[in-house]
Amino acid sequence: MSLFSSRTDWPFSSNPISQQLRLFQEQGTPIIDLTCSNPTQCGFSYPVMAVLQAFQNEQNLSYQPDARGMLRAREAVCRYYAERGVQVSPQNIFLTASTSEAYSLLFRLLVDIGEEVVFPKPSYPLFEFLAGLNDIEWKTYPLAYDGAWKLDRQRFREVLRPSCKAVIIVNPNNPTGSCLDQEEVSFIESLCAVEDRAIICDEVFLDYPLDPGSSIRSLAAGSGCLTFVLGGLSKAVGLPQMKLSWIVVSGPASKVEEANRRMEMICDTYLSVNTPAQNALSFWLRESEGLRQEILGRLRKNYSVLTSLDPCGIARLRAQGGWYAVLELPPGICEEEFSLSLLKEEKVYTHPGYFFDFESEPFLVVSLLPPENAFRSGIEAIGRHVERVG
Ligand SMILES: Cc1ncc(COP(=O)(O)O)c(C=O)c1O
Repeated sequence: MSLFSSRTDWPFSSNPISQQLRLFQEQGTPIIDLTCSNPTQCGFSYPVMAVLQAFQNEQNLSYQPDARGMLRAREAVCRYYAERGVQVSPQNIFLTASTSEAYSLLFRLLVDIGEEVVFPKPSYPLFEFLAGLNDIEWKTYPLAYDGAWKLDRQRFREVLRPSCKAVIIVNPNNPTGSCLDQEEVSFIESLCAVEDRAIICDEVFLDYPLDPGSSIRSLAAGSGCLTFVLGGLSKAVGLPQMKLSWIVVSGPASKVEEANRRMEMICDTYLSVNTPAQNALSFWLRESEGLRQEILGRLRKNYSVLTSLDPCGIARLRAQGGWYAVLELPPGICEEEFSLSLLKEEKVYTHPGYFFDFESEPFLVVSLLPPENAFRSGIEAIGRHVERVG
């Protein structure tokens, strides 16, 4: 019998790309990191005084725990949605320390051992770990690309077994940047309503539509089934270190009421959100508009740079929002070998598509957050490298 739980019996081996990266880091070799997803490391002009000033608050010395999160902070979340045209009630909001934690709490709320959740593929790899850590099963439903990302409805139906308790939607998705459209969401809602499943809609990238003039529709307004919308400071105000996210509950009143009652017990068990961040939330959300616009401006500029790869036979897949973009390399290239040799020879770090469970290859995923000059240099290096190895 092992001392450790089987749920933590992960294969700890590293892949050749991360081995090479570690080697460069140990040697102090400068690289262009086109995977950077940490906004605090990307040279944005944070409103330093405004962020820090919020801590100079005597109320931070008083502890008055509320399982849902402090009312004032929840009201700030309501204002955030009201500014985006959605009315939500503080009664239906729960604060958590992170979106990842929010997933865990919801899995505890909804899913028993042996039951499962479904999430999109490609998507970001954390879901598998979150499901495993909560002893639940998971399946993926594919998103297919033919000039735009689409829900594969046929396969979605096939994946949805009676044991599925919740469907996870990520709008916009990481890394495809895709959003399910209204028809696709209605299709999912109808299948969830029939068998009493919940929807968990991750909208952490809600504020980052890549197409100027477009916006991303939030599901927080509610639907015909029990719905949990996730958002948080890590992306909305570029402050992942402040550790504050939220869950907005909506749907049929009786289900919302029961979900709220149970969620309150779960959250009361942990009380994981720190007081200073809750006291600061309203101020940060208000003061961060400039930063959000700066991030959005950079995402759009960097996304547009990717079309410079067209002549090299590298296609930029269409993304609607978020912090990432997907590049399709010319056929015949092995994406892992390409990403590794790009790192070795050009000192440019990218993620191959298989990190995100793409069904085919060759794809590269790049972050749109890096400073524009570095981003452009990295993209030029990808173009050169394709010409060399292609
Ligand atoms: C789609 C998506 N949801 C959630 C998270 C995690 O957010 P948090 O930092 O709030 O845990 C990430 C992190 O990159 C993400 O890409």
